[in-house]
Amino acid sequence: MNKTVLTGIKPTGVAHIGNYFGAIRPAIELANATEGPSYLFLADYHSLTTVKDGASLCEYVKDVACTWLACGLDVKRSIFYRQSDVPGIFELAIILANYTAKGLLNRAHAYKSIVQDAIDRGVDPDHNVNVGLFYYPVLQAADILAFDVDLVPVGQDQKQHIEICADIAKSFNAIHGNVLRVPDVIIKKDVATLPGLDGRKMSKSYGNQIPLFCSESELKKYIKKIVTDSSLPTDPKSTDCLIFQIYKLFATESEVETMANRFKQGIGWGTVKEELFLVANRMISPMREKYEYYINNFEEVEKVLIEGAKKARQVSQKTLERVRKVIGAST
Ligand code: TRP
Repeated sequence: MNKTVLTGIKPTGVAHIGNYFGAIRPAIELANATEGPSYLFLADYHSLTTVKDGASLCEYVKDVACTWLACGLDVKRSIFYRQSDVPGIFELAIILANYTAKGLLNRAHAYKSIVQDAIDRGVDPDHNVNVGLFYYPVLQAADILAFDVDLVPVGQDQKQHIEICADIAKSFNAIHGNVLRVPDVIIKKDVATLPGLDGRKMSKSYGNQIPLFCSESELKKYIKKIVTDSSLPTDPKSTDCLIFQIYKLFATESEVETMANRFKQGIGWGTVKEELFLVANRMISPMREKYEYYINNFEEVEKVLIEGAKKARQVSQKTLERVRKVIGAST
């Protein structure tokens, strides 16, 4: 494959295992699989819709950067940078806003659901909506279009944003010719919405997540909290349940097969949880060690990000030259 791949991650908290299987790992695999350029970046200005405390944002950025490196992001193959180090993205965003139908943004899920919440609570629909939230998909479109991207691997929840991006690029191209490359989205379907401890989608807002890099004893505690039914250890169990689904992510094929048989014969939930801990910790612990190294040696990470931003600025500058020319701005 010789495609340009890009994905962004919004730093708003520590990564959980849903992020790992749904976003981080597929993005790294794709970045490694392409011969073309690949871009991975920390979308720190996207966090501003909710994170207003500078020190927290810094911490989140640091955490996400270390997480991606610990998970195996190869910075020789991928350009890794902070969005806020690449001003061309924001210039492009403000231009693209003029090619974006307001109705397109009215239909964006995140915005719509906040408005719906307000309506349901009987308060003004604009309550709690800042323009940054409304404009969020435009900024995301600029993140992508600045780099002539072919593929954007994301979780299901981001699909609409990539479609909006493609729409914006088409509107721009309809007027100015083939200036912007229209991207495709790739969704990693099987793990797109990994359920959390309680069976609902794993998400910070539900408080049902298993953090990727907590200590071993915390990991054990989280696993104990996974909701199971009240069947007895001797009862045969269906593999169509939350804990088996999580087990499958960490275990080898033959371990999964063995576990499925034990489910049929009857197995106690406590035993399943112990086995899950073993396979989960086996996969996580080498990454956890790297993560701790990067957190304690952040100056190395900082260097990588600054190098990445240099390259990202060069590429985005080229796109902006094309764009500025066709819209009639100063070149
Ligand atoms: N909105 C994405 C999220 O919340 C993060 C993101 C920002 C992104 N810009 C992007 C993802 C560009 C893919 C491409 O997860």
